[in-house]
Amino acid sequence: MRGYSICGGNKLQGSLRIQGAKNSALPILAATLLIKDKSIIHNCPQLSDVDAAIKILITLGCVCVRDEHTVIVDATDAANFEVSRALMHKMRSSIMFLGAMVSRMGKAVISNPGGCELGPRPIDMHLSALNRLGIKVSEQDDLLICTAPNGIRGADITLRFPSVGATENVIITAAVSKGTTVLRNAAKEPEISDLADFLNRAGAKISGAGSDTVTIEGVSRLCTVEHEVISDRIVAATYLSAAAVTGGCLELKGCPAYNMTSVLKFFSDIGCSIKAKNNSVFIRCGERLKSSTKTVTDVYPGFPTDAGPLILPVFTVIDGQNSLEETIFENRFRYVPELNKLGAEIIMKNQTAYCLKRQRLHGADLSCTDLRGGAALIIASLAAEGVSRVSEIHHIERGYYRLAQSLSGVGADLKEIEF
Ligand code: UD1
Repeated sequence: MRGYSICGGNKLQGSLRIQGAKNSALPILAATLLIKDKSIIHNCPQLSDVDAAIKILITLGCVCVRDEHTVIVDATDAANFEVSRALMHKMRSSIMFLGAMVSRMGKAVISNPGGCELGPRPIDMHLSALNRLGIKVSEQDDLLICTAPNGIRGADITLRFPSVGATENVIITAAVSKGTTVLRNAAKEPEISDLADFLNRAGAKISGAGSDTVTIEGVSRLCTVEHEVISDRIVAATYLSAAAVTGGCLELKGCPAYNMTSVLKFFSDIGCSIKAKNNSVFIRCGERLKSSTKTVTDVYPGFPTDAGPLILPVFTVIDGQNSLEETIFENRFRYVPELNKLGAEIIMKNQTAYCLKRQRLHGADLSCTDLRGGAALIIASLAAEGVSRVSEIHHIERGYYRLAQSLSGVGADLKEIEF
């Protein structure tokens, strides 16, 4: 079994380039299916979730070529409409292919992506919004048979909650359609604007992405496109946390500050010095951070749920009481007992984690429960005295490109090991 061995205590110092955003790359890859030509996607991170999306495209008949961080998808001959259960279950974002497949092939047979490590994660909002666009879904066991008997037609849709995935699925589905779609109570995350930019570059007519009302004027076809994926604001938050717990000083290159306001405010509130200049963010942290914060996760531009796990280890180095309330997912704290194995005393009450005071962490054997929870264990291990061994790192590889190399490049004593 592969894992990481981390000897904590080293201050992180140096500069790092932030990878492309997984949560942009995945819907953009799904959207390439709409284009009967080549899509060239730069800054597309090499991650297992991205590999799974590429496998789905290949299954559907696309030709995909990767050259480091550039992926070329040629969807000219895509004609298949079935994705196996095994592939669908590799990542929840596979649901993002539903609308694209029906739009392109007229039919999709996929399996329900089901629950995941963060809780039940239903797809009811995806299905009801796509139904308004003309997609009919019938369920056979856990298979979803999706068709559009009268084609995809524009509609006025209001989401009951600004779901990121449902917003993206509607944008992708309505891009090539008859009529105009107005999507209200849409999610506003930067990755949605990136998807709209990609599609608009290919000839789509999408306006308002990044606000709560998105208008999609359907077009009849899209053309070849070249696009650069935005940088990953959650990966950036991971390195900011790693700097904070080690009293370090990092420059994050290729990291625009404008879409990280709530995260940067958190680090500034706890006493880190934050500067943004020329597409880089600089963080400098003192030995002792002192503050009392109450962080509540929220939809964008609020504090991102995906960054919640990354700041719990930071709480353990702050003199003061700090709390994190999770409001988006039901089951996001499974990594907390693992953190506590390091000597953290994080107390859970309903959906809030409390850290009452600064704590002395020591090395331990830990196991990742999910992607960001796994990153939290790495960050905490960097702050702990002695050696920690972290297993189940496949969770981390879903979202981080060469995390071990990046952290050791800025001074962490971290290496990949075989148990
Ligand atoms: C995306 C991100 C994920 C991030 C999340 C919230 C990707 C690949 N993943 O996930 O990293 O944590 O946004 O920022 O971009 N819900 C329903 N019914 C639905 C859809 C969602 O009840 O049909 C619920 C979910 O269970 C959750 C909430 O809505 O409680 C938010 O989910 P959503 O915004 O859809 O997240 P994802 O798109 O799955």
